[in-house]
Amino acid sequence: MLEKLNEIQAAALEALKSVADDEALQAWRVAHVGRSSPLMQLFKEFGKLSKEERPAVGKRANEVKVALEEALAERGMMIKETELAHSLEEDHLDVTLPGRPLRHGGLHPTTQTLRRILGILAEMGFQVYTSREVESDAYNFQHLNFPPDHPAREMQDSFYVESEGRQEDDPLLMRTHTSPGQIRAMREFAAADPDNPPPIRISLPGMCYRYEQITSRSEIQFNQVEGLAVGENITFSDLKGTLSDFARRMFGQDARTRFRAQHFPFTEPSAEMDVECFLCGGEGCSVCKKSGWLEILGCGMVHPNVLTAGGYDPRRYTGFAFGMGPERQAMLRHKIEDIRYFWGNDARFLEQF
Ligand code: PHE
Repeated sequence: MLEKLNEIQAAALEALKSVADDEALQAWRVAHVGRSSPLMQLFKEFGKLSKEERPAVGKRANEVKVALEEALAERGMMIKETELAHSLEEDHLDVTLPGRPLRHGGLHPTTQTLRRILGILAEMGFQVYTSREVESDAYNFQHLNFPPDHPAREMQDSFYVESEGRQEDDPLLMRTHTSPGQIRAMREFAAADPDNPPPIRISLPGMCYRYEQITSRSEIQFNQVEGLAVGENITFSDLKGTLSDFARRMFGQDARTRFRAQHFPFTEPSAEMDVECFLCGGEGCSVCKKSGWLEILGCGMVHPNVLTAGGYDPRRYTGFAFGMGPERQAMLRHKIEDIRYFWGNDARFLEQF
């Protein structure tokens, strides 16, 4: 019987060698360690053995059983491993390949420029004052000395906001510039001490809206930064000095500036400031359209009617104001040819900044 046990073991192990998948493994289990396998059948024949033979055969039979079960478990592991290796191969997973790079966000080019402008103005003593984006006609136009028939008030230029119960001559609209913030700021400052309103030096950043055809040069939504200084004895020289200094801080110590006469209803006199083209150094290029100069901002001495509307007596107070566009400055600085990129949300554009 010992001999038979050895044969059973050898045959079973031999058969196991060709078992290559789970199904064959289960079949092998039934055939070699299952209830009707030769090994298990053999256990039933123990009764025929003599008392002397029994312990040795029993021990051996158990050894064979354990050996076969261990071999079965081992084979099972092997099958699993090869299956895994196969599936890895089929999926072409190469764990040694470098990972996907993480994309990290950054500040929008307009935000970067806006922050730079506000930072420089802050160094020069201009505190940030934020004002509302939905304005009334009165603040956006009337208090800023726009004549009633001024073309900027026409429907084509403003987004009007539906507002029930408002007077017809003072509808709500999305502000078309940051200048209405001048009136809000002056009124707030003056309210603290109406007989002796304090001096003002503020920057007014924010989004503006115009109902315009969208082109490479104009968007319906854009930022502005307004500056306002009000006090006693403020002159046009202060305006020129402040803005020339701003240009040097913004565009470099050698930045030359020039002022051209312009017209705005809310300033008198009014001007536009150009900075010498920093792309061609004044030689003339496509960005400055061969003129050598880039228009940067509008400015002027605050109109007496505007001071009055703000609660500042124009006989005692004077002031200057200016307004500039961060998008425009970002375009000039980075030679961006189309303003629509700013709202295009194209990562390929944004990633460059
Ligand atoms: N509000 C003017 C504009 O939108 C800019 C400006 C601001 C001009 C302040 C003079 C003074 O174009």
